[in-house]
Amino acid sequence: MLDQTWNRERLHELIESRLGGRKFIVVSNREPFIHRHRKDGSVECIRPASGMATALHPIMMASGGTWIAHGAGDADREVVDANDCVMVPPEAPGYKLRRVWITPELELGFYYGLANEGLWPLCHITFTRPEFRPQDWAAYKEANRIFAEAVMAETNGENALVFIQDYHFCLLPRMLKDMSAGRVICAHFWHIPWPNREVFRAFPWGEELLHGLLGNDLLGFHIHYHCQNFLETVDRAIEARVDPDRHEITRGGHVTSVRPFPISIDYEADNARAQRDDVSAAIEHWYDRLPGLRGRTIGASIERLDYSKGIPLRLHGLERFLDQHPEWHDKLCFVQIAVPSRDQLGTYKAEQAAVDAAAARINKRFGTDTWQPVYLLKEHHGSVDMMALHRMASFFMVNSLHDGMNLVAKEFVASRSDEHGVLVLSLFTGASRELHQALGVNPYAVEEVANAVLTAITMPEAQQQRRMRLMREQVAHQNVFRRAGRLLTMM
Ligand code: F6P
Repeated sequence: MLDQTWNRERLHELIESRLGGRKFIVVSNREPFIHRHRKDGSVECIRPASGMATALHPIMMASGGTWIAHGAGDADREVVDANDCVMVPPEAPGYKLRRVWITPELELGFYYGLANEGLWPLCHITFTRPEFRPQDWAAYKEANRIFAEAVMAETNGENALVFIQDYHFCLLPRMLKDMSAGRVICAHFWHIPWPNREVFRAFPWGEELLHGLLGNDLLGFHIHYHCQNFLETVDRAIEARVDPDRHEITRGGHVTSVRPFPISIDYEADNARAQRDDVSAAIEHWYDRLPGLRGRTIGASIERLDYSKGIPLRLHGLERFLDQHPEWHDKLCFVQIAVPSRDQLGTYKAEQAAVDAAAARINKRFGTDTWQPVYLLKEHHGSVDMMALHRMASFFMVNSLHDGMNLVAKEFVASRSDEHGVLVLSLFTGASRELHQALGVNPYAVEEVANAVLTAITMPEAQQQRRMRLMREQVAHQNVFRRAGRLLTMM
């Protein structure tokens, strides 16, 4: 039996009571809404491909606070007020977005450099060597300081609860504690994995980084294993008292609680939205756009074009499947949406080339005048198009080599009220610890991926239904409001 339902209203009540008159401020690098120019010069507002933004948006809609983030869109400055603020979402404003501006040079060192060439590969352990450049570390510190000033301006001397997101802001909690003389309560959620202590030893400024993070009152990871890794890292690297039983670290008299809070989605909203007429119309639009999909079994994946997502290995798995199963030629199509990401970086350019090459090779080897096995779409898609693809897919693949959670897997499940469709899910995602009825795969094992494709497309309807029903129950119950409620109760 499910216990009491968690929804937006209940979370709102909880936040009101927990805040006790304090301001609620979320800080992240990526903004939840980006204003950018269309080709004709008009301005559009899009939602970025970001698990973090997906998870935080419903929480902000329930709390109605302020979200501080880097203004990265080329039309962002045109829509803000004198305080760099704009209400979002544009169609039904629910909270304030305060944009922080950083120079392209600083972005290069802070975001591309330290955060995404240093910490991202360090924490994901995907055999991509991290880069640690002193000038990036300097830019990272400077960007953290700029954000700290924006938070202080937003608090305006009042007490506040600041909820910091991710690996871009390890130094921010300590800065806020110092600048506010303790008036600010800091909670921090780490959306990516935390590596084991041996791997973390490679980070050259480890002590400073950990000291910054331990300015938090609460530090959250998706899973227990990452909390353990963090506790062990601190225990090994710096002077602090680590209490593994209470999940607490004391440094300089200040206590930081370290807890797992697996994030989730607004299941009810996604479930309802996926059934809407505009999504049904978008299905037709997909068939018009890619007529080869009609009458064929469809597989799909949607993610940022990032080496941690394992796209080339997945395509190798599909290729192996087509090699071994000629009876499926002409019958199956795979739609790969790969949203361009961090494309200034060499590792991402190389990944893009590897994805292009794999898709082209498969289409050349197996394709005919009337059948294209792989459609590679390297472009951003809105939620309506993505939900349409969820509904069209007989099987949906998430092959991350390492992923904190992966909300796309949960979004697929939420879209399938018909209880059909099979989820193939990497065992190296946080989501695989919750979605036990998915077909689990080791994304590095090409043979296993090929076998999973066969199992998925030949799975009897009754079994698909049973698995999908159980996964939907899980995501419905453990929705974002329940998960956020747990976290906020801890603050
Ligand atoms: O979910 C992890 C994450 O790093 C988010 O923090 C981020 O928004 C998302 O991936 C996308 O990355 P980026 O913001 O660099 O485009």
